[in-house]
Amino acid sequence: MRKPYIAGNWKMNMTPSEGAAFAKELVKALQGSSTKVMIAPPFVTIPAVVEAVKGSSIIVAAQNMSDNLNGAFTGEVSALMLKDLGVTNVILGHSERRALYGETDQFINKKVLLALSQGMDVDLCIGETLSEREGGKLEELLTRQITEGLKGVTELQMKHITLAYEPVWAIGTGKTATPEDADSAHAFIRSLIEKLYTKGVAEELIIQYGGSVKASNAKALMSKEHIDGALVGGASLSVEQFLPIVNFDR
Ligand code: G3H
Repeated sequence: MRKPYIAGNWKMNMTPSEGAAFAKELVKALQGSSTKVMIAPPFVTIPAVVEAVKGSSIIVAAQNMSDNLNGAFTGEVSALMLKDLGVTNVILGHSERRALYGETDQFINKKVLLALSQGMDVDLCIGETLSEREGGKLEELLTRQITEGLKGVTELQMKHITLAYEPVWAIGTGKTATPEDADSAHAFIRSLIEKLYTKGVAEELIIQYGGSVKASNAKALMSKEHIDGALVGGASLSVEQFLPIVNFDR
């Protein structure tokens, strides 16, 4: 039985004071909820948010991290720094990092291995553009992103991996994949994980859907067999919108 896992990726939104105020509100609103919830603030907002969620079960993640642990890498933030702040999770391979900052599967894989070696949990994002989907390349693309992104990740380490399937054309556009289309992509991903690892690993793997998830579509998406949670962007920025997504099963 896979436990629902809802994550909020704040992207480049929320100053430290806004983030702290919002996180406090969220802690109150989520009291009594048994759903696993993670929020990913921008780097500079992380300390205020870690402080604000102290004592709650909300997980704080980074949206990215360096592929190195320390050294002359101007502007970068390392796993060691994040861990020192109390950050246990990191989102890697987000489509915005791939498209806007040229992150390749190999580069993302280096970060995945580094995060795991530092005892962090990873939310690895994958997903196709519209032209890849329309060109019939969905499975080929997912196979490449997953095989390359998880290269060297052991069966044991897979307990620390969550996959987030985010069709690029559905991110921030208001266009959501139909629950059926999303579920069929998730089923393909799970079957690939079974081929690469074992049936047990595939059955336990949490696969989130991301791309214009909102209160009105969360239940339909999450009731699908292979959709175990969501990676939410825009709708994670207000309690009114995020709470019904977390409580989709109520
Ligand atoms: O990381 C989150 C995704 O990019 C989805 O963003 O919910 O604003 O479409 P969105």
